[in-house]
Amino acid sequence: MSALGTIEDLPKEYVDDLVAQNTLPLWPSLRAMLPHGIPSRKTQATVWHYSDLRPNLMRAGELTPIEKAERRVLVLCNPGLGLDNMKATPTIYIGMQLILPGEVAPNHKHTPSAVRVVVEGSGGFTVVGGEKLPMEKGDLILTPPGLWHEHGHEGTGPVVWMDALDLPLVYGMEASFSTESPSQTIDKPSEYGITRLGLGGVVPYDSLDAPRVPYPMLRFPWKTVRANLRGLAGVTPKGKPVQLAYVNPETGRECLPTLGFSAIQLRPGEELTLPRRSASAVLHVVEGFGSAQIDGAGLKFGESDTMAVPTHARVTLANGSSTNSTYLFVVDDAPLQRKMGIYQVFSEDIK
Ligand SMILES: [Fe+2]
Repeated sequence: MSALGTIEDLPKEYVDDLVAQNTLPLWPSLRAMLPHGIPSRKTQATVWHYSDLRPNLMRAGELTPIEKAERRVLVLCNPGLGLDNMKATPTIYIGMQLILPGEVAPNHKHTPSAVRVVVEGSGGFTVVGGEKLPMEKGDLILTPPGLWHEHGHEGTGPVVWMDALDLPLVYGMEASFSTESPSQTIDKPSEYGITRLGLGGVVPYDSLDAPRVPYPMLRFPWKTVRANLRGLAGVTPKGKPVQLAYVNPETGRECLPTLGFSAIQLRPGEELTLPRRSASAVLHVVEGFGSAQIDGAGLKFGESDTMAVPTHARVTLANGSSTNSTYLFVVDDAPLQRKMGIYQVFSEDIK
């Protein structure tokens, strides 16, 4: 295979003329844009330790009133992608959001898809589409694209949650914008979605005949997911992932258009090599501690830490405890890649 021509191979006056006409030759950049075998990746395997981040987040609570922030968030920026770009991976934005007792984050909706995973505190809530959703540690709350949502805090002490959005993707499409509105009227009973649809394989009969709503369940309590993981762990051979996907219970498919969510249990003393996947991902530690090898980078993680996983990466996770399980929440862009027809799981790394 011969090397492709470079820009230096071309006469300067020719290149100048191309540039003046807002054009460029493809071949000097072709290999960079379309490398052989594996994509070129700038995303670095990175860990953000919550113990480092938390003091600065609390300080933000002192420095900036919520009215001056709207959303009081510190963004986890992957150093390989440029801090200004606010990307944890090429498609995934991750922020740590602080809300203090009595504060409200006003009602809005936007084109990016968003979810929250509660990191600490209790008494926080989110209202989405007229349903008031309590927020307890580890809960997943969906705020799908185009649905009104607002946050509040009726408890004591700080509440922190992790925001995950497809903002880099939608912003890159020049399609990212929000709309504000006065506070919503709560018009659904407490625990509406989880009560109707959270039973696992059983749905209200009328939902078979009713027109489908795209996002029928908006809150996935960690208590339920954790119990289901423990059940799955009992029937999963050692070395195979104990991993549950969060899905739309009416379709059995991903619950948001672009981002996917799952939870992994590492059993006591377990080391787990995940199948290598084409999707990029973010891992967030709900409970426990351990270490990760991500494309050869060794990272230590503790509770509430967050890690970035590049596309096509090799990932091995090890539970640091020989007596307790460790639990991780996963965000990936597999739903987007599936829709694009480019999602792959590489069998050579499946153990
Ligand atoms: Fe929002």
